[in-house]
Amino acid sequence: MSDGLEGVIAAETVLSEVDGLAGRLIIRGRSLDELAGRATYEEVTRLLWDGFFDNLPADLAPALGAARVEVFAEVSALDTGLLDRTPIEAMRALTARLADGDDLAVALRLTAAPAVFTAAVVRAQAGEAPVRPDPALGHAADALRMLRGNPASPAEVKALDTYLVTVSDHGLNASTFAARVIASTRAGLTSAVLGGISALKGPLHGGAPGPIIDMLDAIGKPENARAWLEAALANGDRLMGFGHRVYRVRDPRADAMKTAVRKLTEGSNAMPGRLAFAEAVEASVLAILKERKPDRSLDTNVEFYTALLLEALSYPPSAFTCVFATGRVAGWIAHAREQLAGGRLIRPQSVYVGPQPLRAA
Ligand code: ACO
Repeated sequence: MSDGLEGVIAAETVLSEVDGLAGRLIIRGRSLDELAGRATYEEVTRLLWDGFFDNLPADLAPALGAARVEVFAEVSALDTGLLDRTPIEAMRALTARLADGDDLAVALRLTAAPAVFTAAVVRAQAGEAPVRPDPALGHAADALRMLRGNPASPAEVKALDTYLVTVSDHGLNASTFAARVIASTRAGLTSAVLGGISALKGPLHGGAPGPIIDMLDAIGKPENARAWLEAALANGDRLMGFGHRVYRVRDPRADAMKTAVRKLTEGSNAMPGRLAFAEAVEASVLAILKERKPDRSLDTNVEFYTALLLEALSYPPSAFTCVFATGRVAGWIAHAREQLAGGRLIRPQSVYVGPQPLRAA
């Protein structure tokens, strides 16, 4: 048995390859460097979905814009009960209102949903009215406009596109595996995406970036870092944004995010000194983890600089995981379709280690 299924191969996929030793990510034959900062989210979604749907349009942007308008109707179901929940729980509840199915229309609505619902939930929790989608905009531009009520700058749109593309797919991570298991039962894409959101929200997976802001705020200045980090480790806490099941070197997405933060914030007065401070904290964390776990190579993962990027884009930390879902949903859907196309029901076995009945049956 493999603890946590480490090293177990559970699927063949044409979608993405995570090379944990080389620190390399390939998405459908393209390296992350070729895509991040260059392709739009719609283009990468098209790339991921190619061959998994009939009649996939050459340009997904208009269809995704129309789907944003369609799902916006569900925002009226946001009630005070849901607004007391965390953004990811409220966003998941609204997504659960969408009908199940396996076709392209369902896939487009599910891909539109996290962007539309996250913006509406964040605004409603701040006492502001939701902003209707603009189907003529790109997905990243509209996500930011719906969040703030004003158009985002081209640099901000590019930064969010870079993020969404970077996290669009990543092998058989926990949420994608959950989505594939559900798809293998033929439950439908909505069920698979809801399972993906549910697995993503945990702090060991996509729930990490919100607490990273808490960590940076609690540390306050670089000279406090070591004492704070040592106290956290002594308390048995994990340091969010570090370590990975597959990468034994630096997660390549960490540098894609750091570059995006630098491009977004340099030359502007946004968050002066924040990146340099985060770099100092990162250096302290890496030094401490090396001392404490010399046998396990623990390095920076995607979440550390994601936290800075989403903060610079004015998402509240409580909603960071929702933005992750906004990007990863394209990958969940592609994996669900791939599973349906070729895979059997996923049904592993367990070894019973409990007591035997006293009397034979
Ligand atoms: N801080 C402190 N200790 C750590 C960390 C960390 N970030 N990561 C791993 N360790 C410790 C483990 O506790 C373990 O110690 P032990 O042997 O004394 O029990 C040892 O290092 C080895 O851990 P791994 O086997 O490498 O961890 P695993 O593969 O089970 O977990 C995970 C990977 C969940 C990402 C882990 O590194 C972690 O909890 N990181 C912090 C949360 C985080 O950043 N999550 C986002 C991951 S990226 C993503 O999902 C998009």
